[in-house]
Amino acid sequence: MCGIVGYVGPQKPSTKPLDVVLEGLGRLEYRGYDSAGVALAAPELDSIAQAKKSGKLVNLKEELAARPLAQATAAIGHTRWATHGGPSDVNAHPHLALDGKLAVIHNGIIENFFHIRRELEEQGVTFTSETDTEAAAHLLGIEYQKSGDLTEAMRNVARQLHGTFTLLAVHADHPDTVVGARHDSPLVVGIGDGENFLGSDVAAFIAHTREALELGQDEIVTITPDAVHVINFDGETVEPKHYTVDWDAAAAEKGGYWSFMAKEIDDQPQAVADTLLGRTNEKGDLVLDDLRIDESVLRTIDKIIVIACGTAAYAGHVAKYAIEHWCRIPVEVELAHEFRYRDPIVTPRTLVVAISQSGETMDTLMAVRHAQEQGAKVISIVNTHGSTIPRESDAVLYTHAGPEVAVASTKAFVSQIAAAYLLGLYFAQLRGNKFRDEIQAILAELRDMPAKITETLNRSGRVKEIARWMADTSSVLFLGRHVGYPIALEGALKLKELAYIHAEGFAAGELKHGPIALIEPGQPVFVIVPSPRGRDSLHSKVISNIQEIRARGARTLAIAEDGDTQVEAFADEVFWVPQCPTLMSPLLTIIPLQIFAAELAHAKGLDVDQPRNLAKSVTVE
Ligand code: M6R
Repeated sequence: MCGIVGYVGPQKPSTKPLDVVLEGLGRLEYRGYDSAGVALAAPELDSIAQAKKSGKLVNLKEELAARPLAQATAAIGHTRWATHGGPSDVNAHPHLALDGKLAVIHNGIIENFFHIRRELEEQGVTFTSETDTEAAAHLLGIEYQKSGDLTEAMRNVARQLHGTFTLLAVHADHPDTVVGARHDSPLVVGIGDGENFLGSDVAAFIAHTREALELGQDEIVTITPDAVHVINFDGETVEPKHYTVDWDAAAAEKGGYWSFMAKEIDDQPQAVADTLLGRTNEKGDLVLDDLRIDESVLRTIDKIIVIACGTAAYAGHVAKYAIEHWCRIPVEVELAHEFRYRDPIVTPRTLVVAISQSGETMDTLMAVRHAQEQGAKVISIVNTHGSTIPRESDAVLYTHAGPEVAVASTKAFVSQIAAAYLLGLYFAQLRGNKFRDEIQAILAELRDMPAKITETLNRSGRVKEIARWMADTSSVLFLGRHVGYPIALEGALKLKELAYIHAEGFAAGELKHGPIALIEPGQPVFVIVPSPRGRDSLHSKVISNIQEIRARGARTLAIAEDGDTQVEAFADEVFWVPQCPTLMSPLLTIIPLQIFAAELAHAKGLDVDQPRNLAKSVTVE
């Protein structure tokens, strides 16, 4: 939540500080879009030049066009997801102190801000906003006056704050410097040539450099055009970890699509293929990216708990079916925020698997720490390199979905399923649940999936048409069974968050235990139909469900595999997907549901990439 950019450098035409920061904010806007602001410092300016505006970045740009700011040598910028204080001009960041000589931007929540604010007000400081950030700005001003050293002042402030924060500051008397602090909130450094960058994530500076430094917890970073200096909150110098970002600016652009989400839906075959790529060693055995746990420990685990939020949790739900089937280890899937506060039974033989696209979701991060405190090992499945969750985990399996910009998750979801399946197969290999040739056969099925996803995408014309017809719908239900159940939940989530329509997903078997009361004439119901080639009688049970709701007037929209000769007779509409093994089917059945939600929201004239009230990285609890 909240996007943060910092820049110091020369006034080359290609890298004017204000332009760099505005461009970075454009790429970070998915993190929050309640307001945006910038602050600039330059040798010829006695105080900070700033502009801020409520609403999306475009409002700030209009303000800057009407009231241009002087050019600068250092700049910071912020795009906000409001926590303390509504989304107004006055609450927008930056917040100023020292009569306009110091500017601060912030991501996170300062839990003791009220106490700090009261003390400062008693000392005569006047506050102009309702934000927690302004307390940090004034505190930094007071600390700066003691030493005249912005880095030292930031360190002293960081030690007084409780909660979560990334803070960036510029001071008019140091127009070649930006200082940042991070505690439980993301901040990365971009390394340039005679210029340096800070950002909530690498998207902030990806147009300028792919060379980055990972900052650890509780660190202070000072950037000037020629240097980056990092210390911890105790004042000791720290050597940050260098890495090269494996995607470029083009990957984070729309590339001719009408929305990022439309592009990311189409990116899915590649995202799955890239996630599966290069996962075996020279002997053909599966390997994890970064394993910091002894394999003998992994052999002894007797329970897996998947922790995640939102879409990532539904990917975990899907994986449960596969991992239990392949490895015969019980798998629980739990929302990270519930796990942490529930006193879960975790032992050193419990393995916790944390799934997160951003690697920064605060609920998931806190649950990771909670699990580790109780002796569990944590393996994370994460998309974003340099983020906090993989750094704190005992092992990592990266999804290689590339940057996901649309707030609603799509390609991250399918790659999370693919990565979790790799993890399941890795356990099966390690624990000897399956022979190597069985694992190879399942891997081959997985590798067939990108082509089948492409085929499913190529059939999306009808679902788009239906979505446009249904733009006035007020409620849609989703039913699924087995791996189709989490897909029903994810399909409903997509529709809620994009189209603001009441949508609910149910286990089809649960229908007669209550939800069928919701069915009235005309109620649209998506039904994910299991393969008739699958085991047991799941297919016929779901076909019966279709008949039961249809008999009560429901409009049934089935997602079924090619060659299912029964479904057509009972459903009002069928969206066909290619045949594949049951455990692979979620990678296909989710596609029409993603497209349906995006198209329906678009038909309603809504912003598909930035739905109301949401932010992509939920970095506060
Ligand atoms: O970055 P994460 O994967 O940890 O994010 C978890 C959820 O916030 C995320 O999946 C959210 O539910 C998406 N907006 C859904 O589309």
